[in-house]
Amino acid sequence: MRIGVPREIKSQEGRVALLPAQVKRLVDLGHSLLVERDAGMLSEAPDSDYVAAGASIADSGEAVYANAELIVKVKEILPAEFGYLRPEHVIFTNIHGAADRRQVDRLLEVGLTAIAAEETHEFGSPNSVLAGEIGALEGARLVLAPHGGSGRHFMAHFGAPAAKAIVIGLGGVGRGALRTLLGLGMSVIGLDVSRGARREAMFTWHKQDFVAFDISELSAHLEEADLVVNCVLWDKTRKDHLITRKMLKRMKPRAVIADISCDPAGAVETTRATKWESPVYEVDGIRHFCVDNIPGAAPVTASAGYAEALLPFISLIAEHGPIEACRRDRWLARGLTCAAGELILEEAGRFQNRPFTPLAEFLKRHAAA
Ligand SMILES: NC(=O)c1ccc[n+]([C@@H]2O[C@H](COP(=O)([O-])OP(=O)(O)OC[C@H]3O[C@@H](n4cnc5c(N)ncnc54)[C@H](O)[C@@H]3O)[C@@H](O)[C@H]2O)c1
Repeated sequence: MRIGVPREIKSQEGRVALLPAQVKRLVDLGHSLLVERDAGMLSEAPDSDYVAAGASIADSGEAVYANAELIVKVKEILPAEFGYLRPEHVIFTNIHGAADRRQVDRLLEVGLTAIAAEETHEFGSPNSVLAGEIGALEGARLVLAPHGGSGRHFMAHFGAPAAKAIVIGLGGVGRGALRTLLGLGMSVIGLDVSRGARREAMFTWHKQDFVAFDISELSAHLEEADLVVNCVLWDKTRKDHLITRKMLKRMKPRAVIADISCDPAGAVETTRATKWESPVYEVDGIRHFCVDNIPGAAPVTASAGYAEALLPFISLIAEHGPIEACRRDRWLARGLTCAAGELILEEAGRFQNRPFTPLAEFLKRHAAA
């Protein structure tokens, strides 16, 4: 199959979907690889390494889309790329379709096959870990006085207490956040609906200033926090919030919310996604950090994890085609967003209140065809 790797065009996004090591493995399997010039530049992967691995270099993103069947990417398809899409394309990237109606409209209109990479990680997304670690670091930085914070140090010294953080959601992102915050010496409360997630975190951090509670305890601890880090996997069809605008008034003056999940008006009512160029905004005296591509800040590391996680799926799609590949691997199938103008991703259908074909029905129909 002809596999294309365009350069990411989202601002401050230096990740790339495949590094030369994975390109070589796909070339060895008999596939042809077309990589856009400088696609790996910020991930310490120069064009010469891709060529040595057996890829060809394309001068533009447009040329990659024009000459490849399977397009592998990191971020969503942006409007500047909409014109390059063709019905024969198979797109495998992080789509986050539920919250992005415009992108889903375009994918359906073109009639291509799209698979959302973020749904396919059986062992957790490698990007989630980095997002938690880096996002929490940014949150901790904002606690320092010159950055507008409460001015507590992240370590306890001279009898003064360490800064206090709440981490909501103790999955992949939350565990990354704990590594940073507890590594720095902060005092942390973890909150999750899952007893298993709470117990695992407590076992891991039993020597630190850490305790985990059910999410119903949030209100009781909100007033003490210098920093709240939101890491929940939020059900986008929910209309309520864990932290409402009204609750901001009960928080410490100059407290920070680092919303790594960053669902607009989701778990945190006042959240809107931000970019690295202007990552922080303030609502009712509470600063919000809500960057939606945090791992893009560490492209060398993030690309290495992402490319390795994607490779088995890319091989499977390239060998069998996207639909048969989804029939063979239920984790890949979870990401099937649309095909031939039909919406399949249930979350997008429900959130956007539009018709969708349930995954099982779609795959069954395909098997019968
Ligand atoms: N900003 C970024 O750059 C970035 C990068 C990676 C991931 N994310 C986002 O971070 C979020 C979390 O990802 P993850 O990989 O950690 O998911 P995960 O499934 O590993 O963990 C989510 C955790 O949230 C908990 N949870 C769910 N609903 C809850 C609720 N109502 N109250 C308390 N806890 C609740 C779950 O029990 C689970 O432990 C996702 O929305 C993901 O898209 C953002």
